[in-house]
Amino acid sequence: MKKTAILAALLATTFSASAQIKLTPDNIDQVLKAMTLEEKAALCVGNGRAVTTGGVSTGITDLVQGAAGSTRKIDRFGIPCTVLADGPAGLRIDPIRKNDPNTYYATAFPIGTLLASSWDTALVEETTQAMGNEVLEYGVDVLLAPGQNIHRNPLNGRNYEYFSEDPLLSGKMAAAYVRGVQKNGVGTSIKHFALNNQETNRNENDAQVGEKALREIYLKNFEITVKESDPWTVMSSYNKLNGEYTQQSHKLLTQVLRDEWGFKGIVMTDWGLKAGTTTAVTAGNDLMEPGNQVEIDRIIQGVKDGTIKMEDLDRNVKRMLEYIVKTPSFKGYKHSDKPDLQAHAQVARRSAAESLVLLRNENNTLPLVPSGQKIALYGESIIDFVAGGTGSGTVNKKYCVNMVEALEAAGYQVDHTISDYYDEYVKYNDALLRLRGTQRTYRYGISKFDDPAIRRDAIDLHAQNDDLAVIVLGRISGEGSDRTMDNDFNLTEIERQLVSDVHAAFHAKGKKVIVVLNVGGVIETNSWKRMADAIILPWLPGQEGASAVADVMTGKVNPSGKLPMGFPIDFMDHPSSTNFPYNQVKTNTPFGTARPAGSNEKDIDYTKYEEGIWVGYRYFETAGTELSYPFGFGLSYTTFSYSTPVVKATKDGFTASITVKNTGKVAGKEVVQVYVNAPSGGLEKPVTELKAFGKTRLLQPGETQTLTFTVTNYELASFNESAHQWETASGTYKVNFAASIKDIRQTATFKLPKPLTF
Ligand code: BGC
Repeated sequence: MKKTAILAALLATTFSASAQIKLTPDNIDQVLKAMTLEEKAALCVGNGRAVTTGGVSTGITDLVQGAAGSTRKIDRFGIPCTVLADGPAGLRIDPIRKNDPNTYYATAFPIGTLLASSWDTALVEETTQAMGNEVLEYGVDVLLAPGQNIHRNPLNGRNYEYFSEDPLLSGKMAAAYVRGVQKNGVGTSIKHFALNNQETNRNENDAQVGEKALREIYLKNFEITVKESDPWTVMSSYNKLNGEYTQQSHKLLTQVLRDEWGFKGIVMTDWGLKAGTTTAVTAGNDLMEPGNQVEIDRIIQGVKDGTIKMEDLDRNVKRMLEYIVKTPSFKGYKHSDKPDLQAHAQVARRSAAESLVLLRNENNTLPLVPSGQKIALYGESIIDFVAGGTGSGTVNKKYCVNMVEALEAAGYQVDHTISDYYDEYVKYNDALLRLRGTQRTYRYGISKFDDPAIRRDAIDLHAQNDDLAVIVLGRISGEGSDRTMDNDFNLTEIERQLVSDVHAAFHAKGKKVIVVLNVGGVIETNSWKRMADAIILPWLPGQEGASAVADVMTGKVNPSGKLPMGFPIDFMDHPSSTNFPYNQVKTNTPFGTARPAGSNEKDIDYTKYEEGIWVGYRYFETAGTELSYPFGFGLSYTTFSYSTPVVKATKDGFTASITVKNTGKVAGKEVVQVYVNAPSGGLEKPVTELKAFGKTRLLQPGETQTLTFTVTNYELASFNESAHQWETASGTYKVNFAASIKDIRQTATFKLPKPLTF
């Protein structure tokens, strides 16, 4: 036999032998070895963008219609497609399929900001466990959630998906979220790694941030989540960080994420093709989503011309295989398409009621036990109650309870002369939008409600006929655009007038006024809050959110949520506001809109994070700025006392414990917040930082519970930018046990004899 014939015969045997290999968790290296370059490239690139037309998906993600993306199959190794779908306030898939009488609705759960307001990791885990069950039962492998970018500025359009201005709270909440979803044997994708802190020009914006702020604020939460919950995947963001796309940053995706933090899963890109696929592969971006033939070709070419090292591609492919063997699709799970939506609606309701924040309750206005009181309800969102935000975080739910339904179900009467008027108004607006061919709640539509003006003489009449007033102020925000300072952060003129007229008319009759904030982000409250007797903040609480508001109004649930950010008096009080596009035209930079060539406009093409670490309370507390409502604030229908705390040094830091007693008349839960003041001098530091928190169970009047906390020396460290290391100063640390950052109940100390570096 000729040499070439022998070689061909050999190759044929090798190929046919390898063709028999089917992927198992134990033969990943063998499969990797047997894969062709083309197969490897294909496995690292998704199946293409799902296209939804008229509520029906076409395109490759037909596996589960409306899912955002998928990975490619390779039949000869038994590698199936795996399915990726949004998040985070529930699963986003199409509810209706062509020629299919079944429906595929998912539960709209509370948004991330509301979950964070619970300060209750167990509750978050329980909620997302139910969410993850829908992921599994609808045939999806990875939920593209949670979103955990820091609330750098109140106007980021997607803040609703994110948790907090504080990295510890954000990191712990995201970790609980991940654990809950992943208990179902499906994955999560923590996103958007990192610095996706504005929607304006989000695909190209260059976030210019110093290393200290990066480490202490914008990466810290991701670090906590990676270390405490082992998410299957991380989604790199669209934007740049200091001139480099995050999806192409080796430092971020390999050095920091994997080498320093020990992340073991895959990294995928956010949904868009960018030049630089080869750099992304080398950086450690394992999966290009939604995926495109161009990317496959670039990877193949990159390996051939040496731009991509084969070992780097192999490393990524191996991680992809390790991911695939974990998925329900690989394991052949037979999903039912029938999750228990009724049970999950109850989870959503409880979760919302336990998390919402009572901001004001003058003279115990609430709870208000229903005894047939007639309520004058104001605001467009009493009818069109906002369950969640817009964009990829929209959940296709079966229904959303509105305020009229919820309050009536709770036993109150509603003045229908007013609510019917709003009902007509909403229908009229919807009809107008349909005529214009736009939908109300998706993508870059409406960002706030344009409430109709109500005449003062009408309000006077209501004040005479009805027993109290409830005003719902509504806001919609979401992906693709940021909110504005005027007419969104600040109330519109019509809203201002409404609050002031209702206050004047009802208070003149000795009747109460309650305001409900059905908003996805922080709004201005200081100028009008004294006109309300009570203010309830349910954020965007999911499809059962209005029932949750009613549960708190009636006293069925005693509110125990606390703010995961401060509410400033003025928008400009945030140092980041001077470097934020706060009055952009809403639609100036939707997905992929190209910026003019060479443009270099402040806050659009680039954003300077000049405020450094001075984000949220870190700035307000250090500068002594007064707030409308401070970080960690939230009222209860009962009161709590805190015992003398015990703080003990351990070999790695300290443990602390404190006993909380319910000193009031009704059962309730308390969130204890542990703020630590580092010794002065040394590295630049805020006066105080949240280092731990815990929530009691439901305590009956007189009942006590001891909460314990662990804080490590590493968690006390600040980042030294010039030495590129974490440093914990020696000296005396003040450990404050607080009901909010402004309400410190007990203080103890902890001494660190020697400085430490990490
Ligand atoms: C969003 C992601 C989302 C993805 C898939 C992107 O535009 O930024 O959060 O997961 O689309 O829908």
